[in-house]
Amino acid sequence: MDKIEIIGGTPLHGEVMISGAKNAALPLIASSILVDGKTRITNVPGLMDIKSICLLLEDMGAGVVRDHTDLIVDGSTLNKIEAPYDLVRKMRASILVLGPLLARFGHARVSMPGGCAIGARPVDMHLKGLEALGADISIEHGYIEAKAPSLKGAEIYFDMPTVTGTENLMMAAVLAKGTTVLRNAAREPEIACLADSLIRMGAKIEGAGTAVMTIEGTDTLVPATIDVIPDRIETGTFMVAAAATGGDVTIQNCIPDHIGGIINKLRATGAQVDCSDKSARVRRTDIIKSVDIKTLPYPGFPTDMQAQFMALMTIADKSSNIHETIFENRFIHANELLRMGADITITSGSHARVNGIESLQGAQVMASDLRASASLVIAGLIAKGSTLISRVYHMDRGYESIETKFSKLGAKIRRIK
Ligand code: EPZ
Repeated sequence: MDKIEIIGGTPLHGEVMISGAKNAALPLIASSILVDGKTRITNVPGLMDIKSICLLLEDMGAGVVRDHTDLIVDGSTLNKIEAPYDLVRKMRASILVLGPLLARFGHARVSMPGGCAIGARPVDMHLKGLEALGADISIEHGYIEAKAPSLKGAEIYFDMPTVTGTENLMMAAVLAKGTTVLRNAAREPEIACLADSLIRMGAKIEGAGTAVMTIEGTDTLVPATIDVIPDRIETGTFMVAAAATGGDVTIQNCIPDHIGGIINKLRATGAQVDCSDKSARVRRTDIIKSVDIKTLPYPGFPTDMQAQFMALMTIADKSSNIHETIFENRFIHANELLRMGADITITSGSHARVNGIESLQGAQVMASDLRASASLVIAGLIAKGSTLISRVYHMDRGYESIETKFSKLGAKIRRIK
């Protein structure tokens, strides 16, 4: 298994290009199931998770061709409505094929996605929503058996905003008969990206990006070219790394409008953040001020940036409180930061207190999940000496050639095969 070695202490300088967003590409690829023809998806990042969902679609009979940074998915040859365990277990976001399979074929058999390091990750809201649209759902031998000769529009109220739950119900509702209203819907930019894509295919959707979405069902959807938005979490990761190392980095091909929550907190730490509509420049010349964060559904501070921000706070001037409200076990990275000398106390499953220290020390550490691995890279960039990160396959799931991008910014970082 690959490892990543980092020699810390070099401030990052230069420009970095942001790739397409993993969490926008996944639902867009799943939406091609809805179309009896070829969907072209542009700006698709080269990630393990993208390979996983492409394998799943091919296993179901779809044609998948990569054309540079585009994917062309042919939904006309789909001949299987099952997402098998050995593919779903590799990537729980495979649950996103459930809604489109039901909408297109009236039947779906999808392995229950297990939990992961950060939490149980239940899908009860997905299933309750599909039942509200008239699907008959049962769980048999670890599989979700869903049947719906025809889906009928309904009012659906999410107990709490769920990103993939909202996306699954959008993709089911676009071919349902009548009107569907999703209330307390997720408002992440990836939701609006999916809505824009479905509208290009002929769907009728209003209110995407707000808490109430109205979807008028249509009979069929037509092939279209759809575009993946830039990755706001990759953007935030490089911004935090620039501030942490005391550097000066311009992040190109990003959408600052999607990361207001992150910019707000970074500025509070004393970093200088200057934005245009497609780029952001982050500089830090002074000390890092301690700042409290609380993760919230969009547009609040994103849970996917909590681990990266915690790494920054380990060398801040005072103490900061980190409140993780989305997932029940998303402090695993803290144990590894402690091994690097950080002063962190996990006061409860959702609260951590970070007392800033002079500097971290390089150490051998282990990645546990996608964003925790990003946190360890940032820690390695600011630590004294060498850090060796194992299990970097977690990182490869969501960051496209991260060591290449960081080394272009001057970091002393290399992958050890
Ligand atoms: C999406 O996961 C993202 N993944 C996650 O990114 C992200 O952390 C998360 O949204 C929150 O922003 C993709 O988009 C592929 P949720 P998702 O449903 O949809 C609970 C990354 O690092 N819940 O919004 O699975 C759930 O347990 C990944 O890229 C239920 O209880 O998250 C959580 O506490 C990690 N029942 C909360 O809701 C349900 O049916 C929010 O989860 C669904 C969710």
